[in-house]
Amino acid sequence: MINTENYTKDFGSGRGIFKLNLDVPRGCIYGFVGHNGAGKTTTIKMLCGLLKPDSGRASIGGVEVNQRNIRAVKKIIGYMPDITGIYDQMSVWEFLDFYGAAFKIPPKKRKSRIEEVLEITGSRFMIDYQLSSLSRGMRQKIGLAKTLVHDPDVLILDEPTSGLDPNARIEMKQIILRLSGLGKTILLSSHILPELSTIATKVGIVVKGKLLAQGTVKEISSKLQEDIVIMLTVDSDVNQAAELMRHVDGVSNVKIIDKSQIEFTYSGMRDMIGTILLFLIENKVRVKWFSENEADLENVFMKITNRAGA
Ligand SMILES: Nc1ncnc2c1ncn2[C@@H]1O[C@H](COP(=O)(O)OP(=O)(O)O)[C@@H](O)[C@H]1O
Ligand SMILES: [Mg+2]
Repeated sequence: MINTENYTKDFGSGRGIFKLNLDVPRGCIYGFVGHNGAGKTTTIKMLCGLLKPDSGRASIGGVEVNQRNIRAVKKIIGYMPDITGIYDQMSVWEFLDFYGAAFKIPPKKRKSRIEEVLEITGSRFMIDYQLSSLSRGMRQKIGLAKTLVHDPDVLILDEPTSGLDPNARIEMKQIILRLSGLGKTILLSSHILPELSTIATKVGIVVKGKLLAQGTVKEISSKLQEDIVIMLTVDSDVNQAAELMRHVDGVSNVKIIDKSQIEFTYSGMRDMIGTILLFLIENKVRVKWFSENEADLENVFMKITNRAGA
């Protein structure tokens, strides 16, 4: 749904973005992750036609992003900037109505559409509030509601949870999941890594303007061929199982967690994991559970950025 090819914006002195190839499939929640200054906002602004790339190209929903197609692009995308410019004098309803009018939605349809977006973002109670009276979390919801007024297929949200308290963050993530359920393709950025791990179906990690990894968290971590931490639960003597594990090639850090659980690190070939299980069973260990600990986004990110010397 969103594709970029060698997307480049060079601000000089190593700042900017360089040959970015993003691939955001239809219907996915794509987490665009990177430290402050990595190039997330620059990329997003180019995708929304607010900044011209130096080289490379992008398409959204099959439409090439360029000056000529800007109207078509704006129709497909809903863009929520990192700082939502809000007209403080207006009420929530006036604000949304103003945007609806800007998108040329006829007045009658506009009213029902505004009600829908207030419903989706859990903001119905704010309809008559003045914008200047809204908290940060409320503003962010209205900013998102505004982004939805013209019912775009693609949502591009720049740090939608930044600056929010924990409750508002959870609520924002629930709204994003709800929007995903409605079939929207969503690209959202964050510098807070674990923030996205629970909702993103695909992740792109950008470091100093370069996309260092792209895929599901699982794909990225297995590509890195990192050590895998495995949890083993047995229904027989835990000490015997631990002793056996200590003699397996590629196994280290064997730790007895409690009377039925062992944790260990495996650094051998991935395809050989099955033979560990077989070895245990052959030695009369009653295995109840054998599982790889889920790759943690924070860990993956740390490893990638460390390698890049960021
Ligand atoms: N208009 C600009 N002129 C010069 N440098 C810029 C401009 N916009 C952004 N930058 C620089 O480009 C880098 C990427 O910025 P940005 O895309 O805002 O990062 P992020 O959103 O990931 O925090 C930063 O080093 C920033 O200072
Ligand atoms: Mg930014």
